[in-house]
Amino acid sequence: MKEIEELKENIEADLKAVQTLEELQEVKAKYLGKKGLLTQALKRIKDIPPQQRREYGQGVNRLKAFLEAELKKRQEAIRERELESKLRREWIDLTVPIKPPFGSLHPITQTLERILRIFVGMGFSVEEGPEIELEDYNFDRLNIPKEHPARDMQDTFYVNREGYLLRTHTSPVQIRTMLSQKPPIQMVAPGKVYRRDDDPTHSPMFHQVEGLVVNRHANFKHMKFVIEEFLREFFQTDLPVRFRTSYFPFTEPSAEVDIGCVICDAQGCRVCKDTGWLEVMGCGMVHPNVLESCGLDSEIYQGFAFGMGVERLAMLLYGIDNIKLFYENDIRFLRQF
Ligand code: FA5
Ligand code: MG
Repeated sequence: MKEIEELKENIEADLKAVQTLEELQEVKAKYLGKKGLLTQALKRIKDIPPQQRREYGQGVNRLKAFLEAELKKRQEAIRERELESKLRREWIDLTVPIKPPFGSLHPITQTLERILRIFVGMGFSVEEGPEIELEDYNFDRLNIPKEHPARDMQDTFYVNREGYLLRTHTSPVQIRTMLSQKPPIQMVAPGKVYRRDDDPTHSPMFHQVEGLVVNRHANFKHMKFVIEEFLREFFQTDLPVRFRTSYFPFTEPSAEVDIGCVICDAQGCRVCKDTGWLEVMGCGMVHPNVLESCGLDSEIYQGFAFGMGVERLAMLLYGIDNIKLFYENDIRFLRQF
């Protein structure tokens, strides 16, 4: 019985020292393993003299039950403690604001949206047309017949299907709109256009925004107001604007719109070729032939139209001197917008 007392004291001491599941496993092996101390004590029962066997047997079995119950209790306690510390370690603060590394809109897209927002604010609708366009809409109905020298003003990409081309400007959307809507018309048309053009300020693909107003009383003064108002809003300053006489087959009279160079503050620089002025768009009163080609009586209706280069405006807004930067998708460039 003394042996059992000692065994119990040892077991209690060992259990007390246990911190981890591994240590608990060691204690279990030490006493209940194949050659464990308690296992050996159990085996010895049969060798004990009969007078003491009963008492000894009960004592050892009680000790075994005690140890098994303790092991179970300790195991649960350790598991619980480990779970708690794991939860504390892996705690996630769900209220921390998450800011994933979002990209941003391309500067040309941003510029397009800036342009459209201003015109939508002035009551213009937004129309769209296809990039593969009918030659008839891109040229003929815009008062540019075949063999007309004005076709050379815009060197064209043709597609191998008779009567189709990559549109050279957004002006064919004027035709599409006048053919499908009755005046009063007040629309802008954004989109990609294509020309055989390639230098630091010209690209074979670029973007334009077309504007068209047709009603019974539209005049040059209205056009001047709309364009000046647009440029003021776009550049957010009161910059100098001038209308310079020009020629487009589809408008009469025609003008090109210059703004005081925003790069050098109209002092003269490389970008404005020392003139202090920068061309930003073409415009004019819609030619009567164009109205008639869309079935509108030019004695009743009149209109004005304008077309601007989006890259050109973006370059001036952001102070960029090479149009190619927009298409290279260099992340160091794009990150600045
Ligand atoms: C036109 O395309 C006329 N359709 C504009 C117009 C519309 C006039 C309605 C009258 C009435 P122009 O070829 O000048 O015009 O082009 C207009 C603008 O597009 C230019 O001012 C310039 O900013 C831009 N642009 C022209 N070619 C290129 C090019 N290759 N790369 C980038 N921008 C260009
Ligand atoms: Mg021009």
